[in-house]
Amino acid sequence: MARHLITSAIPYINGIKHLGNLVGSQLPADLYARYQRQRGAEVLFLCATDEHGTPAELAAAKAGKPVAEYCTEMHDVQARIAEGFGLSFDHFGRSSSIQNQKLTQHFAGVLADRGLIEEVEQRQIYSETDGRFLPDRYVEGTCPNCGFEDARGDQCDNCTKQLDPEDLINPRSTVSGATDLEMRATKHLFLKQSGLKDKLDAWIDSKTDWPVLTTSIAKKWLHDGDGLQDRGITRDLSWGVPVKRGDEDWPGMEGKVFYVWFDAPIEYIACAQEWVDAGKGDDWERWWRTDKGADDVRYTQFMGKDNVPFHTLSFPATIMGSGEPWKLVDYIKSFNYLNYDGGQFSTSRGRGVFMDQALEILPADYWRWWLLSHAPETSDAEFTWENFQSSVNKDLADVLGNFVSRITKFCRSKFGEAVPEAGEYGEAEHALIADITARVARYGEQMDAMEVRKSAAELRAIWAAGNEYLQAQAPWTTFKTDPDRAAAQVRLALNLIPLYATLAAPFIPDAAEKMLAGMKITDASWPDDVGSAVAQLPAGHVFEVPEVLFAKITDEQREEWEGRFAGNRD
Ligand code: 2FM
Ligand code: ZN
Repeated sequence: MARHLITSAIPYINGIKHLGNLVGSQLPADLYARYQRQRGAEVLFLCATDEHGTPAELAAAKAGKPVAEYCTEMHDVQARIAEGFGLSFDHFGRSSSIQNQKLTQHFAGVLADRGLIEEVEQRQIYSETDGRFLPDRYVEGTCPNCGFEDARGDQCDNCTKQLDPEDLINPRSTVSGATDLEMRATKHLFLKQSGLKDKLDAWIDSKTDWPVLTTSIAKKWLHDGDGLQDRGITRDLSWGVPVKRGDEDWPGMEGKVFYVWFDAPIEYIACAQEWVDAGKGDDWERWWRTDKGADDVRYTQFMGKDNVPFHTLSFPATIMGSGEPWKLVDYIKSFNYLNYDGGQFSTSRGRGVFMDQALEILPADYWRWWLLSHAPETSDAEFTWENFQSSVNKDLADVLGNFVSRITKFCRSKFGEAVPEAGEYGEAEHALIADITARVARYGEQMDAMEVRKSAAELRAIWAAGNEYLQAQAPWTTFKTDPDRAAAQVRLALNLIPLYATLAAPFIPDAAEKMLAGMKITDASWPDDVGSAVAQLPAGHVFEVPEVLFAKITDEQREEWEGRFAGNRD
């Protein structure tokens, strides 16, 4: 049996994610996990919240809560929303878990033992009042470039210039407003990934089937400018994984934590441990250790393009550098950005639709369908309300929903709520089955290849084929002259419903379930043979007309939502 380990980039804890975040990682990962389960594979699908770093600390401070409490609350919020979207994680973990803390410290220890960590003396801003070193984002002042008074230590938001905190004029601490800041010597750890450059380069070169988006970003970081740089992996924060060398203290590193991007990907492994510790599984090593059976696991990661450097270079450097038999990723599916209505989604300005809001106005399947069928694969994509309205109304309501409702209602009115028995299949029926057989094979190929948009297009074409058949055969007309022939047409069309539900389940799981429930079918396994799949409902099989699957979006609704999500949520 094939075994698939699937991870989605783990979303930052600070706040609810927007639809652009969702379509860039969690949602396509869920599509693939659902599909692989359906194909009979053993799947471990993991995601978590990314809880460390300055953004988490700052968001907690803004919410007026201790950071640990804030993270626990936000984790639960994100978990509930993920459930609302039908994201079928086997476990939704937390990067602040004890498992991740231990494993992160373990990796740092072995990397240090193997000479891959360097201690670097640096000068950094120290605040006497706050009694601590301040990370770049905790220092603000006047931009030397444009005079903007609230420029951050890492970048000026006004003129976008990248800054170092000592460039700022009149710097102050954002923790306390203190101005008694001075440069002091301090030590930080650097992962010597430059030493692994050739190995990483050869590894990326071997991935000839990866999306160009993934490999081109990796190559750019490996070769542009001075090439792959060593990376600082510690920070002066109190919230995070304390710097230790395995179980040992690390002299000179007291009070420091690992950089969030060092511990976040390690959470992919720790999450599998959390899954076991939560009693949901009994062996995480067979997924993650190549000496314990993970050799035959296929590991796929999903992420937005901004995450690619960390997953193609830094995390593999951690894994390779450890010299231990950890599983390396087999395939990285990356995505471009989804823009919102002529601009960008903006968390700070509340522009665009956020996951909680989306579910307040429409069920998950509407969003899942639009987002996946417009996934930003080959270029950035754009959400517009007009496009959303027209896709939902056409694809879901007119093509799929209408097919189901029309044929079930027609059957009920002429033959009752059971599959009619009379009549034989003729040329048109055999042609339809042949057409759908070919399309299902193509759909499977596209899903295997994680070609999300192409899969959606093929699925839509399979639905449309049924509609065209009904349109052409018109059993409501046939019935007047040849009721037996109409019965055969209805029998085939009714049998398409469970087939459509099964094929559509990875995209629109709730509607698929309603369709199967209406047809009183529980088996949603993959139709290896379309001919027998469309004979699944035998003559006499009782069904119920399913409730309306998709309501159309009206122009009034569209206009109202356009206004509501234009900016400044809460
Ligand atoms: O971009 C983000 O939302 C990051 N929190 C992704 C981290 S993915 C991984 F490294 F864990
Ligand atoms: Zn500036």
